[in-house]
Amino acid sequence: MLNTATSICLSAPAKLNVFLEVLGKRDDGFHELESVMLRTDLCDVLHFEATSDDQLTLRVANSDPTHVAADFPLDESNLILRAARALQQATASTLGAAITIDKRIPAEAGLAGGSSNAATTLLGLNQLWNLKLPKSELHRLAATLGSDVNFFVEDCRAAVCRGRGEQIEPIPMAGSLSFVVARPPVGNSTPDVFRRLGPAYEHRSFQPVSDVLASGRLQNLADVAYNRLTEPARSLNPGMAKLMQQMNERCSRPVFMSGSGSTCFLIAHTPREARRMLTPLVGLNTAFLAVVRI
Ligand code: C5P
Repeated sequence: MLNTATSICLSAPAKLNVFLEVLGKRDDGFHELESVMLRTDLCDVLHFEATSDDQLTLRVANSDPTHVAADFPLDESNLILRAARALQQATASTLGAAITIDKRIPAEAGLAGGSSNAATTLLGLNQLWNLKLPKSELHRLAATLGSDVNFFVEDCRAAVCRGRGEQIEPIPMAGSLSFVVARPPVGNSTPDVFRRLGPAYEHRSFQPVSDVLASGRLQNLADVAYNRLTEPARSLNPGMAKLMQQMNERCSRPVFMSGSGSTCFLIAHTPREARRMLTPLVGLNTAFLAVVRI
């Protein structure tokens, strides 16, 4: 059937890593990873309007501008426009798009906001331009755009991600979880965090985390969640280290970090419990503080 829609609106979700191990450094400079990612309900909203010329434009339409990073680029360096351009080039499409984003996911946060925007652009324009590219081709393009983009091309709640992050194996997850997420004022640069990784260490397995998710015994997740990049990031970002300590003291719970940070999070089991845990954190020095759900 011909797709006659001239516009489409899609959510671009943020991810949280509940497990991340670095298996080694590769010859191409990237690190070989094994991580478990969860898709959250914290989302940017992207609106795509088809245009008959091949122009691509991007604009921010935020009701609350505090969510938009001051340096959020609107030029060709933005992953949204890079994704759209990659799709045009791969298909020799002569169509264009006027793209509007309502930005909610903080930047340099380890929540993969930019990667999710890129994946959502591939999915949205594939539909809007009626390109009918198969998922395998969208995955190929996604891997050229960044290490976390493929997770969002796959339509799953939870996945083990391998390689530099682009090899996605969806895994089952029973039940739902809530988290309190907090990003300190200063974000982390991913390459800087990787550069601070210590010398050799014994690799941890993702298996206990995937077992807990599959079994639905989600109250055990805090016992097995782990992120190898936490210590390097803590040494890089004193504000994050302080925030993690404050969250731990005020909530008496272990605090985790997503991706390369600087978002830290606490695991709760119901939205109500998460809201209760958030209360003593209000007033701490954060750029972003929210309850998210999986
Ligand atoms: O692929 P992405 O743009 O997300 O990666 C940003 C940077 O993070 C890379 O240039 C690299 O320095 C580092 N990185 C890495 N190993 C990975 C993913 C990212 O070293 N698996």
